[in-house]
Amino acid sequence: MTPAQNTAADAGPKFVIVIQQKGGAGKSTITVNLAAVSGRSSLMQNDVEDAAVIAAGIDPQGSLETWADQVPEETLPFDYLVTRGEVGVLSALQKDPNRKRVVVDTPGFMEIDPDAAWGADPLGESRVADALREVLDLADLAIVPITPEWLSWAPAEFTIERILKPRGIPFMVVINLHDPRDGDTALDKVKKWIDEHDYPRVPDPIRKYKIHAHAAEDGLTVVEYKESGTALRAREDFMNLALSVEQAL
Ligand SMILES: Nc1ncnc2c1ncn2[C@@H]1O[C@H](COP(=O)(O)OP(=O)(O)O)[C@@H](O)[C@H]1O
Ligand SMILES: [Mg+2]
Repeated sequence: MTPAQNTAADAGPKFVIVIQQKGGAGKSTITVNLAAVSGRSSLMQNDVEDAAVIAAGIDPQGSLETWADQVPEETLPFDYLVTRGEVGVLSALQKDPNRKRVVVDTPGFMEIDPDAAWGADPLGESRVADALREVLDLADLAIVPITPEWLSWAPAEFTIERILKPRGIPFMVVINLHDPRDGDTALDKVKKWIDEHDYPRVPDPIRKYKIHAHAAEDGLTVVEYKESGTALRAREDFMNLALSVEQAL
C-alpha cells in the first residue's frame, strides 16, 4: 500500500454504535454523553467549523431528535445528525476527513422477528431494520448497555449472539444504571453474568444519578452539569467509557 492510499483509508471517521435490543438500558443517554466527553477531548479538535465528533440517531421515532430540540447547538462539543431511518446519510460520512468519530444511537428492536432461525438475520424487513443494517455495516465498535436489572440481560445476549457476532463486529458491554446506594451485590451479579459469557466489559459501571434523567429533559450533557460531587462522578463514568472505547478502536 502506498502512503497516499494509507492516508485515504485513515481519513474517515470511526463509527461507534450503541445497540441493545431492549429500550431503557441507556442507549440514547450513552450516545450523547460519550459524544460530549470525546468531543471535548484535545484529540478530537478540528481546524474547521465541523465538529470532529458526531452523535447520530437513526430512530424513525426520533428519540435523539427530541433531546436535540432542547439544545442550543452552538454550545455542544459535537454535531448531531438525525437520519430518521433514511439509509445513505451515515454512509456518506465515511470519507469525510474532518470527522473522527460518529457515535450512533439506535432504536430498540424487540418487535423484530425474535423467532428467526439460528444463523438467519433476525432483523427482518422494515425501515428500522434497513437503518440498523446500514450502521452495522459501518460499525468499527459496538457498545451494548446492560443494567443490573436482569430483564436487560437476555436482550443483550440476543444482540451480541444474533446481531454482532455473526457480522464479526467488535463489541463491549457496559453496565449502566448502577445505583451506588444499592451496594455491590447486584453489580457483582451482572458482572459475573457478563464475564461468564466471555463478553468484553467496560471495567466500571455508569452510575445511576438523577441529574442524568433531568439532563435528558433539559437537553444537557454531562460536560455541562452544574459543578458538584455528583456531576464530577457522572462525568468520570463517561470519561472512563470514552477511554475504554478509544483503547478498543
Ligand atoms: N446512568 C443513568 N442515570 C440516571 N438515569 C439514566 C441513566 N441512564 C439512563 N437514564 C434514564 O433512563 C431512561 C432510559 O434511558 P435511555 O438513554 O433513553 O435508554 P434507551 O435509549 O436505551 O431506551 C431515560 O429516562 C434516561 O434519562
Ligand atoms: Mg433511546
